Amino acid sequence: MHPPRRATLRRYLMCPPAHFEVTYAINPWMNPAKPVDVPLAVAQWEGLRDRYRSLGHTVEVLTPRPGLPDMVFAANGATVVDGRVLGARFAYREREPEAAAHLEWFRAHGFAHVREPLHVNEGEGDFAVTASYVLAGRGFRASPLSHGEAQEFFGRPVIGLDLVDPRYYHLDTALAVLDDTADEVMYYPPAFSPGSREVLRRLFPGALVATDEDAAVFGLNAVSDGLHVLLPQAATDLFDPLRERGFDPVGIDLSELLKGGGSVKCCTQELRI
Ligand code: ARG
Repeated sequence: MHPPRRATLRRYLMCPPAHFEVTYAINPWMNPAKPVDVPLAVAQWEGLRDRYRSLGHTVEVLTPRPGLPDMVFAANGATVVDGRVLGARFAYREREPEAAAHLEWFRAHGFAHVREPLHVNEGEGDFAVTASYVLAGRGFRASPLSHGEAQEFFGRPVIGLDLVDPRYYHLDTALAVLDDTADEVMYYPPAFSPGSREVLRRLFPGALVATDEDAAVFGLNAVSDGLHVLLPQAATDLFDPLRERGFDPVGIDLSELLKGGGSVKCCTQELRI
C-alpha cells in the first residue's frame, strides 16, 4: 500500500520559448534540418505554465534572450535547495550564457546564497532532490567534481549516478522524483551503468520502473507536486502504474520542445525555498 498522497504548493521558474529553435545538435533528439513551429511551442509551453497555476503553484518567469534557443529548458540553469542557489556551468559553449541570466535573476529576486559553480553542472538536468538525497547524474554533461561541490554547498548527501545512453543524457530524462517528502522515484534502469542501477535498486526498492517505450517518449521527464504528476501525454503506459500508487497523472503535450530534447521537467526549475 502507498502512503496517502498530498500536493504541496510549489514555486517554479520557467522561461518561454520565444527564441526557441534548433540550430545546433548537442543531444541525439536535436536535428537542425527539422523545422520548429515557434507559435506552437509557445502555446504548448503556456499550457504547461497555466496547468501549474491552475493547480495553485507559483510560476516565476525568466525573460528569454535572443540567441539562446535552449533557454526554455529552465531546469538547467540552477539548482535551488533550502533557498540556496547553485548556479549552472554548461557543458557546451552554445548554452554558456544562460548561466549568467539565471544568476542575475536569483540575485535580483532576493536570494542571499547564490553560488557561481566551479565545476560543470546543468542544474536540475542532472540534480534531483529527494527527502534524503541529492541524486546526481554524470557521464554526458555534469562533471563528477560538481557532485562534491553540490554536497558541500547543500549539506545533503549527493549520490552519483552514471548515465550510459546518449538519448538519456541528463538525469531528468531517466529519473523523476514522485514524492520528495519520502524517497520515491520512477526511473529507467537501462539509462544507468550496472553499478548505478544497483545503487538505485538499493535506495529505492519500491520504485516505479519505466519501460523502453515510456522512456522513449520522455515519460521520465516529469514533475510531481506530491499528488499530481505532470508528464508527456504520450507516456500513457505510465498513467496506470502512477494511479495505482495514488498519484494523479496529468498528460502534457510539449511535442515541439521535444525537438530540442526536452519536455515537462526540462522546462521547469523548482525553487525550493
Ligand atoms: N537542447 C537542450 C540540451 O541539450 C535540452 C535540455 C533539456 N533539459 C533537460 N533538463 N534535460 O542541453
